[in-house]
Amino acid sequence: MAEAIPIGADHAGFQLKERLVKELASLGYSPIDVGTHSDESVDYPDFAHRVAERVETGENTRGVLLCGTGLGMSYAANRHPGVRAAVAWTPEIAHLAREHNDANVLVLPARFLDEEQGVTILREMQIEHPAAKMVVEVAKTQEEAVGDGTTTAVVIAGELLKQAEDLLEQNIHPTVLAKGYRLAEAEAQR
Ligand code: RB5
Repeated sequence: MAEAIPIGADHAGFQLKERLVKELASLGYSPIDVGTHSDESVDYPDFAHRVAERVETGENTRGVLLCGTGLGMSYAANRHPGVRAAVAWTPEIAHLAREHNDANVLVLPARFLDEEQGVTILREMQIEHPAAKMVVEVAKTQEEAVGDGTTTAVVIAGELLKQAEDLLEQNIHPTVLAKGYRLAEAEAQR
């Protein structure tokens, strides 16, 4: 099933949001447009909270926000526990925000980007945090080891993996997660 991604903007981000909604769909996501729906002046926190609440409660894993500078939206979204909203004005920053910071809300400064730049930045949402990749590798190692007969290391790895997944669900900081995965990986390979 396509991942649902909530996206919201104020009047300054409205035009670019319209374009990014289409882009999300063409990337294979299922966009949830929480507004605003015109150039008429609105209060940006209303839209930041709509997106951030969905990420905070786990209803959605990630979200996108746009305002003039990106700053107001990021301040409001980051008040929500578990939300890591990052303002990205280049694709490189968006890439690093995913890879190094596990950002789960991408915020774009719409008044400082053209459509093309906005789309290029949005595409970086597809980058997975390395911890997420690691979990797949550990699972594969485990499957192979189980195929050869269960060992203590496999059982321990299973336990650690489960703990890491619980942390992931609770939105624990990625550094803690990555440490859990490294331990699980080392155990699985013993
Ligand atoms: C709206 O004029 C503007 O202040 C808003 O879009 C945003 O830049 C706030 O951070």
